[in-house]
Amino acid sequence: MATTQEYGLGEFTFPRGWFMVAESAKVTDKPQGVKFFGQEFALYRGKQSGKVILLDAYCPHMGTHLARNSTSYVAMDGSVEGDSIRCPYHAWRFGPDGKCNQIPYSPGPIPPQAKVRSWKVEEHMGAVFVWHDPEGGEPDYDIPVIPECNDPAWVPIAFDDLGLVNCHTQEIVDNITDVAHFGPIHGSLTKYFENEFKGQVAVQRMGGGHRTLTTDDGPMLETVATYTGPSILITKMVGTHESYIYIAHTPVDDGSAYVWHGLMVKSPSGAAQYNEQDVAIARQYQEMALAAFAQDFEVWKHKRPNIKGLYVQGDGPFIKQRAWYKQFYNPRAMREELLKGVEGIHHARGIEPAPASKAA
Ligand code: FES
Ligand SMILES: [Fe+2]
Repeated sequence: MATTQEYGLGEFTFPRGWFMVAESAKVTDKPQGVKFFGQEFALYRGKQSGKVILLDAYCPHMGTHLARNSTSYVAMDGSVEGDSIRCPYHAWRFGPDGKCNQIPYSPGPIPPQAKVRSWKVEEHMGAVFVWHDPEGGEPDYDIPVIPECNDPAWVPIAFDDLGLVNCHTQEIVDNITDVAHFGPIHGSLTKYFENEFKGQVAVQRMGGGHRTLTTDDGPMLETVATYTGPSILITKMVGTHESYIYIAHTPVDDGSAYVWHGLMVKSPSGAAQYNEQDVAIARQYQEMALAAFAQDFEVWKHKRPNIKGLYVQGDGPFIKQRAWYKQFYNPRAMREELLKGVEGIHHARGIEPAPASKAA
């Protein structure tokens, strides 16, 4: 596994952006320890507000992990009270703002340093996201959501938890520019392909056949895959079913990532309100989509780091994409400079551009 520095991405080890940290359904009032950006966190749902709370994991008293405990009486009795959480060691209690609001055995005042960092989290589409910014700034873009996420004609998204992969996130993001892998990995016949970079957005437009997602005589599979920020990829897919593939990856350590996959399908029956059968077909289609994604995932799992590829004519615009990705690893003030010569539409030699830009 190679590090951000080895990839030469920039001055920050972990990128700026919105990152998925959990499926909503899995966050309860039983706190869990999670690790992202090389740090430990305590993640739980407040009993009072129902809101998700993400705190730095280590208690300022004596450094105990607030969430990785199952044997303390505090933990066994339930360490979440209202929206606060009690440390399993000496029962100091921390509010959702991260400030200690009770030390049960100490009559003295609570020292102002008795606090942990509380992170900015939001819930959308059944997932929990955190804003991570090495410069400490406020979000400069919204969490991308599937436009039809509340439309009853669409079967709601379900997530597949793929877990940890020991490759740097750069290798995952490379996929957006990788036109030449579609044939060998996915069995697809790429008819057209292009990338477009603009600000924090990277788009891939692709059309062709796909052995695992459509049949030989089936409709052409056309996809528009969009990264909004460094980690959330939403792919609109027109083929057997109108659907969206949702892929989120979040750095765990410098050189590893946690990955989720999800699919949202327009009710195959065409009904304004999806029914049980639609759900069954959607989940079946999800399995096929997951199988296609697993084809990429297996490569990432076993490859060595690709610090500097041996690219040839016909490869996608990897160099431009890696330059685009650098904006998240550097101060915002450098963004304009970093995106010079990167923004715009880029093609791969010998591959047709997407129909719209061909006509343009
Ligand atoms: S270490 Fe947390 S209360 Fe003592
Ligand atoms: Fe792929």
